[in-house]
Amino acid sequence: MNDQQVLFTNDICEALEEITTKIQHDKLFVLFDLTTIRFCMPVITPFLNKYEESHSGQRIHQIVIETSDQAKNIDSLTEVWNALSSNGATRHSLLINIGGGMITDLGGFAAATFKRGIKFINVATTLLGAVDAAVGGKTGINLGNLKNEIGAFAPASAVLISTKFFETLNHDNLISGYAEMIKHGLLSDKQHLFDLLNYDIQHWDNETLLPLLEYSVNVKRKVVRQDPYEQGLRKALNLGHTFGHAFETWCMQTNKPILHGYAVAWGMVCELIMSQQQVGFPSDTLYEIANFVRDNYGPLQFNCGDYDAFIELMKHDKKNEGDEINFTLMSAIGVPTLNHSANKEQISIVLDIYRDLMGI
Ligand code: GLY
Repeated sequence: MNDQQVLFTNDICEALEEITTKIQHDKLFVLFDLTTIRFCMPVITPFLNKYEESHSGQRIHQIVIETSDQAKNIDSLTEVWNALSSNGATRHSLLINIGGGMITDLGGFAAATFKRGIKFINVATTLLGAVDAAVGGKTGINLGNLKNEIGAFAPASAVLISTKFFETLNHDNLISGYAEMIKHGLLSDKQHLFDLLNYDIQHWDNETLLPLLEYSVNVKRKVVRQDPYEQGLRKALNLGHTFGHAFETWCMQTNKPILHGYAVAWGMVCELIMSQQQVGFPSDTLYEIANFVRDNYGPLQFNCGDYDAFIELMKHDKKNEGDEINFTLMSAIGVPTLNHSANKEQISIVLDIYRDLMGI
């Protein structure tokens, strides 16, 4: 997989102009969801107008699909394919995906499959999307309740990240993205993790966030460069996600949906407890992360009667091989250890300790 060009910019129109000039194409399509068309259209309108003027009035085709992860499905995908097809897209057309992870995953997959693949650009509009989904070439859709069950590896020709878009995000969505940054901090080095834990996420501003964000995205890029198709090292990016996905699905099934990053934050605490028990992750760092998560995300409330439900959900995680539940653990900051498994008793002990650390 080619290394992706990632541009951090606050002049999104200039960046789009530069990239669309570099990438040869015949027609240009832009994919939004109902939220991003409302909030992001004003930001990119000067680019759209200038493009149409400089291409002898050639129309840019806008495609708009529903917002929400539930709409990341075959029906929305078909809408995108149909819009491309009925507006004369060819193998040389270019698609710009403007949105969070739902749009960049679905739009990337639409582009990867339309006429066996057209080029696409991701413009990340959420912190979670910028730090994770938009970068790294994973594209796909959900199949019923199964998240990202259908998909392909297909890198965007370019990824644009602008903190300008984050101005319209609420605090919960910002700290949801920040959880993936903490994950990258754990996977990188002590100094970066320290900077993240000491950043005042209750009162942040985009200017001071930017260097942390750039560093964080580069942690992911470095991993993806070494293992683009997740044969080994890329599994490190799943830290926090085995417990996290179980928490996320359980909350959805019990009608208390939570944001992905919250689930990852709680999942990371559990997987660091398991890391401390199985591979000697330092206790002081575990307590620092647990305190940070408790103070900023609050605890996920559950009791020991819920453990079996979590374990059942973990058994169906698609990262598993055979009957074993697969965990990414850490033996130290920057040292992931892959492909660990744990039995019911070990998982229950982790959940007991989690409840202690979170004070529930
Ligand atoms: N979200 C994890 C990865 O891209 O591998």
